[in-house]
Amino acid sequence: MDSLLQTRSEKVPLALSTRNGIVVAVKMLSVELESMRGEREFVSEIITLSNLKHENLVTLKGCCVDGANRFLVYNYMENNSLAQILLGGEQNRIKLGWEPRRAISLGVARGLAYLHEEAKPHIVHRDIKASNILLDQNLIPKVSDFGLSRILRDNVTHISTHVAGTLGYLAPEYAISGRLTRKTDVYSFGVLLLEIISGQTVVNYDLEHGERYLVQKAWELYRANSILQLVDPIVGMNYPEEEAVRFIKVGLLCAQETAKLRPEMSRAVRMLTNDIDIEGVQISQPGLVSDLMNIKLGQKTTFPSISSKASSMESSRSPPSSYS
Ligand SMILES: Nc1ncnc2c1ncn2[C@@H]1O[C@H](COP(=O)(O)OP(=O)(O)OP(=O)(O)O)[C@@H](O)[C@H]1O
Ligand SMILES: [Mg+2]
Repeated sequence: MDSLLQTRSEKVPLALSTRNGIVVAVKMLSVELESMRGEREFVSEIITLSNLKHENLVTLKGCCVDGANRFLVYNYMENNSLAQILLGGEQNRIKLGWEPRRAISLGVARGLAYLHEEAKPHIVHRDIKASNILLDQNLIPKVSDFGLSRILRDNVTHISTHVAGTLGYLAPEYAISGRLTRKTDVYSFGVLLLEIISGQTVVNYDLEHGERYLVQKAWELYRANSILQLVDPIVGMNYPEEEAVRFIKVGLLCAQETAKLRPEMSRAVRMLTNDIDIEGVQISQPGLVSDLMNIKLGQKTTFPSISSKASSMESSRSPPSSYS
């Protein structure tokens, strides 16, 4: 690789130009020798991504090992991540209308349906969130960051002893008992879908309501028959209201507390495209993991990094970072 085009924060991958002019993103992971933490993520990313190919998944172009450092090389995504362009600061935000939000939501749903149902063996991503949805030059979404992903064998329930993911996107049954299924990702997708439509982060803080979770807000508006109040004002007035109502309802269906009631991802896709009518479908209360300290005290499973980081969210409007 030739020239360094850009360096951002230490965590953000470098954009490099190869000799033949292709721009790639290089992500560096440092391996902690005691826990081998970076190593597991590195191997998981390579194993998972080498076997997958879908328009809505990021492409791994190569990898490299240098001492304790591991490098992963991807196609460079010109429009960064959803977290940046939808929820980031004013200088990064793009004024997204209804159409791109619709296309991004559907793309992510299709990428997940592929992982869950077409990929053999099936894959659970475990860390679906706005910063892990990258966008290429045409705003086509690419699910990225497979470091926490798990392979699921048919009819086997995976019980994790080490819960990983991001607060606000974590399905309650997974956070509480470590029960990992494809519905864990469906929950996170539901939360993400509500973020895409509303332009709001999973948790908000304001003086009037204090800390408020997006799923809670969406549920209250749904119950009050005012669901369209959730649509991001940036979208303007000219959007298809019926479709927006449907998208928010799909978000709520995916985020239901009872995992069994959440649709499979391929069904969620058909609900979004209106191939499955959800007009009269009953939606039950969303699940919410808002207080990990209490969960930790009440359960046998330990969540060391989750609980230690939970307090840093309290006054933050930006999306919380990953815990693993
Ligand atoms: N292939 C890529 N092309 C362009 N930008 C990228 C690419 N991969 C990652 N990024 C940018 O770098 C950011 C950091 O990525 P990274 O996956 O290391 O961390 P993160 O998603 O922010 O946090 P977490 O570690 O919790 O997943 C992404 O959110 C995105 O903005
Ligand atoms: Mg990431």
